[in-house]
Amino acid sequence: MLKGKTAVVTGGSRGIGEAIVYKLASLHAGVAVIYAGNAAAAERVCITCRQKYGVRAEAYQCNVADFSAAKETVAKIRSDFGAAQILVNNAGITRDGLLAVMKEDDFDAVLDTNLKGAFNMIRHMTGLFIRAHDGCIVNIASVAGMTGNAGQCNYSASKAGLIGLTKSVAKELAPKGIRCSAVAPGFIKTDMTGGQTDNPLLKMIPLGRMGETEDVAGAVAYLVTAKYVTGEVLRVDGGLAM
Ligand code: NAI
Repeated sequence: MLKGKTAVVTGGSRGIGEAIVYKLASLHAGVAVIYAGNAAAAERVCITCRQKYGVRAEAYQCNVADFSAAKETVAKIRSDFGAAQILVNNAGITRDGLLAVMKEDDFDAVLDTNLKGAFNMIRHMTGLFIRAHDGCIVNIASVAGMTGNAGQCNYSASKAGLIGLTKSVAKELAPKGIRCSAVAPGFIKTDMTGGQTDNPLLKMIPLGRMGETEDVAGAVAYLVTAKYVTGEVLRVDGGLAM
């Protein structure tokens, strides 16, 4: 279904990003896996893509929060793959804490990675999309960006900003045939949420359980392939933010 296309996935070496990489590779897209630091994990993901799905897969170390590094990485991907038509901004961090004691660094780091990182990648990849006359961006937001969450003012602000970015990019690039949507996961089983089995919010999930990384990856695949859908924010949260 995505044969001949290249997908760039940030934070693709583990968790939700890893599941997204496998899902897009299973649909025959070549994949560029951007990772922050764990080269071995990123290479393992690429090997799985090549062996299991027979697609081209390459790993790129990049701090997406760094505008110049993102630019260089996109240039390398262009040189290796020739073109790219899909971008999934999945890289994200949390630095939770109560507002009254939150350190400036913790606010800035979360905004820089989750929001500016997505801007950096979109900014540098838009030229490739325009050249390819084809492009789809999926940003991994969060229900925290829709409802707010005590103890996560930095994270919620970054994800709400990401939803605003998504809708503006969708409107601005639609005339060029480039689509942009977001997935807003609730509680998904990953390293980020691993220790939260006693979080009171879990009891408020109508479907009564945490989600799997594959649930988010399936939503990404839908948004990538749904040609008449743009500017959408698709909740994958078991009904939590309904
Ligand atoms: P994770 O912590 O397992 O994975 C995040 C990935 O992003 C890691 O591979 C990490 O190395 C990478 N990353 C972090 N900072 C980076 C940077 N500056 N440059 C490049 N890569 C960077 O987290 P998880 O759970 O897989 O989350 C993935 C995305 O889904 C995040 O954006 C997160 O905010 C979002 N999300 C997760 C939820 C969950 O319940 N796990 C719920 C809602 C949203």
